[in-house]
Amino acid sequence: MKQIAFIFGCLALAACVAACGPDPSKESDARLGLNTQEATGRQIYQQRCAVCHYAYSSRSLHGPGLVRLYRKKYLPSGLPANDRFVEQTIVNGRGMMPAEGPGLTPEQLSELIAYLHTL
Ligand code: HEC
Repeated sequence: MKQIAFIFGCLALAACVAACGPDPSKESDARLGLNTQEATGRQIYQQRCAVCHYAYSSRSLHGPGLVRLYRKKYLPSGLPANDRFVEQTIVNGRGMMPAEGPGLTPEQLSELIAYLHTL
């Protein structure tokens, strides 16, 4: 009986490790392999975007999850997933998303974009 409980315990643990994995949003910049520019972009993301978007999940918060943003062909709106349209969204806003451009310097915008490329 004890052995069966032990086996089930191991299986449950293994399943959780496989499914949950470490949560990237809690990992350090170094663990995620971010360079200085990307790490600065991550900080900007935390301050300006994280309230509405999950970075490491496709689940929606107020806006769509941004995981693998540039690795998919299209953005959630159906526009091609490239810098031009992502920048447009950030600077001018889109639908229910407010324009985030006014508070960002061109340098901060590039840092943010560099970080989004790592998702
Ligand atoms: C107040 C909430 C809010 C904030 C803050 C916010 N967004 Fe959004 N975002 C949204 C919503 C809502 C949408 C969906 C817009 C739509 O298509 O109607 C969206 C859409 C997007 C899209 C997809 C655009 C597309 O064409 O499908 C990207 C990329 C994006 N946001 C990036 C960002 C980034 C980067 C930041 C930080 C600078 C940010 N957002 C801040 C709410 C927000």
